[in-house]
Amino acid sequence: MGYLPFVLLWGLPQIWENSEGSSDLHSLPASPRFFPLRCLQISSFANSSWTRTDGLGWVGELQAYTWRNDSDTIVFLKPWSQGTLSDQLANQLQHIFKGYRSSFTRDIREFVKMLGSDYPFEIQISAGCEVLSGNSSESFLHSAFQGTDIMSFQGTSWVSAPDAPPWMQRVCRVLNEDQGTKETVQWLLYDICPQFVRGVLETGKSELEKQVKPEAWLSSGPTPGPGRLLLVCHVSGFYPKPVWVMWMRGEQEQPGTQQGDILPHADGTWYLRVTLDVAAGEASGLSCRVKHSSLGDQDIILYWDHSHVLVIVLSVLAFILVLGGSFAFWFRRRRVYQNIQ
Ligand SMILES: *[C@@H]1O[C@H](CO)[C@@H](O)[C@H](O)[C@H]1NC(C)=O
Ligand SMILES: *[C@@H]1O[C@H](CO)[C@@H](O)[C@H](O)[C@H]1NC(C)=O
Repeated sequence: MGYLPFVLLWGLPQIWENSEGSSDLHSLPASPRFFPLRCLQISSFANSSWTRTDGLGWVGELQAYTWRNDSDTIVFLKPWSQGTLSDQLANQLQHIFKGYRSSFTRDIREFVKMLGSDYPFEIQISAGCEVLSGNSSESFLHSAFQGTDIMSFQGTSWVSAPDAPPWMQRVCRVLNEDQGTKETVQWLLYDICPQFVRGVLETGKSELEKQVKPEAWLSSGPTPGPGRLLLVCHVSGFYPKPVWVMWMRGEQEQPGTQQGDILPHADGTWYLRVTLDVAAGEASGLSCRVKHSSLGDQDIILYWDHSHVLVIVLSVLAFILVLGGSFAFWFRRRRVYQNIQ
């Protein structure tokens, strides 16, 4: 069995969740920022002859690596992606990963025969590490089958996940017999990964630690019902990802505030939409408040007041006027045209 150690990398999701920290937004400015390296492998096996494996890698929130099935090498997407790795070690790693990818496909096909299981299926492997303060680091490697956690690498061996199907025990036993692969995985996870991440944090520091201020604006959404208004607060173009946005009345947070998903822009910044469903008469005096590390303690506060409603009414009126005007113009032209004929 070749390079199945990668399956161990599945620890990533926990670190991922921790680093997003969006559930504890009040602690925004104080929370220390870590930049875990998270690599994701996605392997689809459609049938006994068709398969593809693609890889992606992030440092913090920024994607720095990609590895498509049709490429022989991992592609560095950022000028700082190689970190402080020597070309020699970088080449050695490319070589190891290339070997891993082809033996992974072969090994999985062997497992399918051994277990008498069936196609199609999908395997995901998540692996990486995070350098914490001081000299400590945490590494992880997890593997999922059909979207469910089945195995991880813990310390020195492969361990079946608590809810994994019974055949996983057999797979782990076979994998754990392969001492060479286990040693390679340990080397990659516990030596190379933290060392690599330290280098990347040096070379990529200015981009990783940049602060980009959000823009914010208000609009009204589709009406939630008779006599009600959906107030929408848009916050766009910020980096890093943690942000706190709340509908307020004075200093009081409005518990009905609904936060959407934080969505990516193509330039690596983020967008968030936060709504509040209110009775039309109660909208006045509400405000949308935005806290973000780039703003220091200068929160953005936008008021939903009568003038805002007026702007909407006026723009609807203007729209109707323009529409009516163009219709009248078209109608006149048509008459002129018909008269000429
Ligand atoms: C295998 O799956 C691929 C992709 O779905 C399909 O195009 C191909 O015809 C399949 N081959 C066989 C032998 O079933
Ligand atoms: C993925 O790459 C492998 C190895 O290079 C190749 O055999 C396979 O056909 C590729 N799969 C697809 C769907 O292109």
